[in-house]
Amino acid sequence: MDTVLKSKNNIKGTFTVPGDKSISHRSVMLSSLAEGTSHISGFLTGEDCLSTVSCFKKMGVEIEIDGTNVTVHGKGLNGLTKPTETLDVGNSGTTLRLMTGILSAQKFESHITGDSSIQKRPMDRVNAPLSLMGASIKGCGGEKLYAPLTVEGKNLKAIEYTLPVASAQVKSAIILAGLYADGETTIIEPEATRDHTEIMLNYLGADIKKDGNKITVKPVKELYAKDITVPGDISSAAYFMAAGAVCPSSDVTITNVGINPTRTGIITVLENMGADISILNERTVCGEKVADINVKTSKLKGTVVEGDIIPKLIDEIPVIAVIACFADGKTVIKDAQELKVKESNRIKTVVGELKKFGADIEETDDGMIINGSKELKGTVVESHNDHRIAMSMAIAALMAEGETTIKNSECVDISFPNYFDILNNF
Ligand code: S3P
Repeated sequence: MDTVLKSKNNIKGTFTVPGDKSISHRSVMLSSLAEGTSHISGFLTGEDCLSTVSCFKKMGVEIEIDGTNVTVHGKGLNGLTKPTETLDVGNSGTTLRLMTGILSAQKFESHITGDSSIQKRPMDRVNAPLSLMGASIKGCGGEKLYAPLTVEGKNLKAIEYTLPVASAQVKSAIILAGLYADGETTIIEPEATRDHTEIMLNYLGADIKKDGNKITVKPVKELYAKDITVPGDISSAAYFMAAGAVCPSSDVTITNVGINPTRTGIITVLENMGADISILNERTVCGEKVADINVKTSKLKGTVVEGDIIPKLIDEIPVIAVIACFADGKTVIKDAQELKVKESNRIKTVVGELKKFGADIEETDDGMIINGSKELKGTVVESHNDHRIAMSMAIAALMAEGETTIKNSECVDISFPNYFDILNNF
């Protein structure tokens, strides 16, 4: 599918965004491993989270979906059954990494794979700690392990492990395996990453402790089913925050957005750029901080995005690059090499596509440099089948002169199925 967009200003109104992708995945995984029935509301019915649902159904979990309400009849930590077919994660790296942690501890062997992009996502980062725990994971690509994977369930040992890369997916895979280990597992993160797994596990009765960047996981006998409310995804809200900040005469409020401090790097960056942004009605829902976010158009200036803020905005870097195109002066994004192993190589895809609009942007080894305030011109851009590239280019299109076509834009269904409907009604 191709989507055509024209420039817009005067974007005013109150919007909601679909449920948080990371929390939606975890809600189905952990409810499946809990004893009893859980009702999940606000679930993201994007393709990635539906892949997680399909994997657990293949392991005997009954799951019903009614709009954004999901009912999961949990089987308990040891109640999953051997899947009769290969588990297919589609495009979802989170499903693949977290599931590998769970599968490592089951009493059966399983096969797991996904689409062509998934088969290029590195799995050695998950295999290294899980193998130390005694897991058996075999796949393609020799030492640099890639899906399809065969995971043979084992009795796991507790470990102490320092993560070489800041990755919530790897951390979560170890935590999930650690629930089944023979003692207390300790994980040390180089920088804090999203902690939704820890929050939800504690909410369901597990004992996960955090001391600085050190996380300790106690094995558990049981998790208890509880109803879960998923907040709106700040990664999806980021596109509307960007539109509110850069499109002339705009005033945008996004309600019910998760503002877990491990995810709010986009707010900090917008504040540093001089955006007019307010966080309203702060509250806590199922252990997660939630708020409404208002952004009004203002004059923005370039900034430097680097260091330990990177994991807090890793998925928002494509849209931050777009915002930087409309700020005065230079924006430098560093320490973001992880972008190379996302759904696409996001350093290359963001820089390449923004150049087509006429942006002054250069690729660096660990990020990019953008010289803002150049006029962008409507053009034809490619999504690279990466939802965040498609959605970011749409924001550039709102500010570009003339018309922009986004090719292969259907990939937004991964995380934000009605994205273009909302954008067209701006
Ligand atoms: C996610 C963690 C991040 C993020 C991804 C979702 C998660 O990946 O980019 O979209 O839900 O744990 P990494 O752990 O690879 O940084």
